[in-house]
Amino acid sequence: MTDYSLLSRQLEALLDTRDWLTNTAQTCAFIQQEIPNLNWAGFYLQRLPEQLVLGPFQGKPACNPIPFNKGVCGAAARTRQTQRIEDVHAVADHIACDAASRSELVVPIVVDGRLWGVLDLDSPIPGRFSVDDQAGIEALVEVFKACSDLVA
Ligand code: SME
Repeated sequence: MTDYSLLSRQLEALLDTRDWLTNTAQTCAFIQQEIPNLNWAGFYLQRLPEQLVLGPFQGKPACNPIPFNKGVCGAAARTRQTQRIEDVHAVADHIACDAASRSELVVPIVVDGRLWGVLDLDSPIPGRFSVDDQAGIEALVEVFKACSDLVA
């Protein structure tokens, strides 16, 4: 089992600048290295109205941009609720950037009441993300937020 409390402490130590760009790059590289069975880990940023723009990531080249009204990332942006998808094939408007992806977790990042972006994780294993994984990864997002200067 992944020790998310250890990972939170390690991530906090890793993020030794307030620069959000550096910290997004480090955070997704850290997650990809430390959390097993992921084929993609990265950020989409809100830089255009009602659209998510691809940010730093680990994995194959990905879809860009993603409108708020499409896909799992769009749902996270719209609802500002974490999307934990056991089987991406069961989601009608799932955007398949990589056919290998079978399950997905998307955590919205909200700063001062505004959506800043999302953290998106994909796995080739169906049902990869448990409720405990969701809580652990949401905690990692909180570390990223606390360690970074994020302009809303
Ligand atoms: N599958 C996502 C698109 C992003 S990629 O997984 C990197 C979605 O449906 O929003």
